[in-house]
Amino acid sequence: MHIRALLAFSAVVTAASAGFVWDDHPWQRPTPEDRRSPCPLLNSLANHGFLARDGRDISIDDIVNGIEEAVNLSPNSSRPVAELAATASTTGNPKTLNLDDLNTHGVIEHDASLSREDTYFGDNHSFNPKIYHSFSKFFTEPVISIETAAAARSSRISCARAANPDFEFGADQDRVSRLETALYLAVFGKGTEGNARTKWVDVLFREERLPYREGFRRPAEAISNDDIVELADKIAAAS
Ligand code: HEM
Repeated sequence: MHIRALLAFSAVVTAASAGFVWDDHPWQRPTPEDRRSPCPLLNSLANHGFLARDGRDISIDDIVNGIEEAVNLSPNSSRPVAELAATASTTGNPKTLNLDDLNTHGVIEHDASLSREDTYFGDNHSFNPKIYHSFSKFFTEPVISIETAAAARSSRISCARAANPDFEFGADQDRVSRLETALYLAVFGKGTEGNARTKWVDVLFREERLPYREGFRRPAEAISNDDIVELADKIAAAS
C-alpha cells in the first residue's frame, strides 16, 4: 500500500477504535478479596473501575461521580442515596464505605429484592439465579415496559411475602424498591417512558457488567431526579 494511503487508513482505524469507554474502563471479574454489594449497578461500576475495583474505602463523592460518569444520573439523584449508604460504613471514616457495608439489612437493603434472597434465609447480597429467574421470566419482549417491570416486581414481592415468615415490606421498602425499578428503566430505557432493553438489563444483573458490547452507551442527556420520581410513580400506578 502507498505510504499516504496507509497513514490515512491507520488514522481511520484509530479514530474508529479510540475513545470507547471500555478502553479506559475494561470489565474485570472481581477477586475473592474484593468487596461487593447487593446493588448490581455499584458492583458493575467497581468491575469496570469507575469505582475502586477492590470495593473498599469508597467515598460518597466517588459514588456520585462514578455514577454520573458511567450512566449520566445526576448527582441530585444519587447523592442523598450515597449519603444514606454511608451511614452503614464500617471503614472508620463516615464519608467512606466498603461495598459490602451495603449488605446491612434495613439501611437500604430490604426484603423482596429482585435478584437476591431475603436476609431471613442467610445471603441477602449475592446474585441468586433462581430468584432472578422468577423475576426475569416476565421479560418476554426485547424491551421491558413500565407495566411489565411493575408486574415482575409485584410478583417478586408476593413470592417473598409467601416464603418468608419474617417478611418486612412497609411503605419505605416499597418506595426504595420502586426507585430501583425506576433506575434500571431509566438507565437502560428511554427517558421516562420505560422500555429498557431486556438484554442490557439481563447483562447488568447476571454479569454485573455495563452492556457496552451489546450496544449500551452512556445516555446523552442527564437522567434527573424528577425523571426517576416520575418513573417510580408510574410503576406505583401500574402495580
Ligand atoms: C448512590 C447510589 C446507589 C446506592 C447506594 C445503591 C444501593 C443499593 C442497595 C443497597 C441495593 C439493595 C437493595 C435490596 O435489598 O434489594 C440496591 C439495589 C438495586 N440497585 Fe442500587 N444503589 C445505587 C444506585 C443505583 C443505580 C444508579 C442503579 C441503576 C441501574 C441501581 C440499580 C439497582 C437495582 C436494579 C437494584 C435492585 C437489585 C435487586 O433487587 O436484586 N442502583 N442498590
